[in-house]
Amino acid sequence: MKIAVAKGDGIGPEIMEAVLTIFKSDKVNLEYEYVDMGKWVFDKGFSNGMTSEAQQTIEELGILFKGPMETPKGKGVKSVNVTARKTWNTYANKRVFQTLHGVDTVFSKAGIPIDVTIVRENIEDTYGGIEHMLTHDVALSRRFITRPGSLQVIRYAFEMARKKNASRITCGHKANIMKMTDGLFLECFYEVAKEYPELKSDDVIVDDLCMKLVTRPDLFDVVVLTNLQGDIVSDLCAGLVGGLGFAPSANIGDHICIFEAVHGTAPDIAGKNIANPTALLLSGIAMLRHLGLMDNAARIENALLYTLENGVRTGDFGDKATVSQNTTQFAQAIIDNFGKSPNIGAKPMLPNMPITPTNFKLDQNPMLVSKELQDEKIVGVDMFIESSAQPMEIAKKCERHAGVKFKLVSISNRGTQVWPTGSIFTNLVNQYNARFETLDGEPLNQQDVIGLYVSLSGNFKICSFELLNMWGDKRAYSLAQGQ
Ligand code: NAI
Repeated sequence: MKIAVAKGDGIGPEIMEAVLTIFKSDKVNLEYEYVDMGKWVFDKGFSNGMTSEAQQTIEELGILFKGPMETPKGKGVKSVNVTARKTWNTYANKRVFQTLHGVDTVFSKAGIPIDVTIVRENIEDTYGGIEHMLTHDVALSRRFITRPGSLQVIRYAFEMARKKNASRITCGHKANIMKMTDGLFLECFYEVAKEYPELKSDDVIVDDLCMKLVTRPDLFDVVVLTNLQGDIVSDLCAGLVGGLGFAPSANIGDHICIFEAVHGTAPDIAGKNIANPTALLLSGIAMLRHLGLMDNAARIENALLYTLENGVRTGDFGDKATVSQNTTQFAQAIIDNFGKSPNIGAKPMLPNMPITPTNFKLDQNPMLVSKELQDEKIVGVDMFIESSAQPMEIAKKCERHAGVKFKLVSISNRGTQVWPTGSIFTNLVNQYNARFETLDGEPLNQQDVIGLYVSLSGNFKICSFELLNMWGDKRAYSLAQGQ
């Protein structure tokens, strides 16, 4: 079996070398094809952070084992990590957080065991990075949550929960506020839950979930979340088990899977050979299991757990009274412990059983098929306009343009209604949403909306607009706060 390996930036090459040395010492039957990916590839002029040869190799081999890759903050190139996950539709990000005996945490000291698996949706949400400056003062990020995308990741989470005999599967969300986006994700969760009656399924609002995870992490088993919330909650869980140095991650798709650590390039310690390779090693162990290399996975994991249990540590964790090991020494300690098992948490030795690859065909994309309703109608439009005027003044102008088909029903600013009613205490920015609805209850068409757009544009710069749709008697848009 051959897999693609990208060493990454920062500490990536050091920890990758440590992990592959451990694999080699255990005679893991894998061949590695090194591919060019990361910030250093961007710097050579490849706009998506990888060469076309790298892309071709990964698409042919189907497995990418990667080190962390650098992304500039606030400006500059897009994240190659996110590009890779999205390009190859690795829709489920599975992150397992377990108590590691020997890695002291508040919970290990209190005797509270942790075994939480976070499944994070990996493609959608604000990670689409579809962003625009609507005015000089107002930035917009489009957050797409789709039914097929949600169903895909949630179904994966339920399947995985069933296989591991999970005691509970929980959906984390903010559907009380984001009723359309998180509401759709939650709706999909309970739709899939019906197919798994043996699993206890429930939902928790994400802020409450964070509080509960830090107070009683042992009450959770599998948690599935949308992309951004899943990202944040999984780093929180990393903290529960000892930090980012212990957090592995698998990006699962139907054809391509990417295994990597949760942490980044750790620029502050790069090049010093002191990074902790455990997270990448745990990701590598998950990859071995994914490839059916059960025997190697169990022997390496038991050696790692034994090593940790015996107090061997890199500088970022453990008992400061014990001398820390550098990355190479830490890897060697694990190799020296092959064949040994920890007192707590030993993994059963199973024979290798290579998996036959699934026959994936891109032209069969069931996600394109939607259950659209017949009685779908346009009942209005939200016009997002740039203006520094007061709401009354804007309303007067808007009403002039409403014509015979539309009536102005509401004006809001940052989602809060400021006309026809509102509060003088609401702070305003220079972008308003003028909501127009059909005047006589008759459905509108797109030409009507464009007509209003043209008329309104005589007075305002329109930054964007959204149609207001009704599906049967269901409103397919949210109301402004206070509307
Ligand atoms: P980071 O995870 O690189 O570092 C945060 C802190 O944790 C630092 O103090 C670092 O020294 C420490 N740390 C991380 N991994 C460690 C390890 N294996 N051993 C010991 N200490 C470790 O996060 P940061 O600083 O926010 O990001 C740095 C760069 O990494 C950014 O460019 C970011 O975009 C990128 N990044 C890449 C990821 C990926 O490739 N999947 C994930 C997260 C960040």
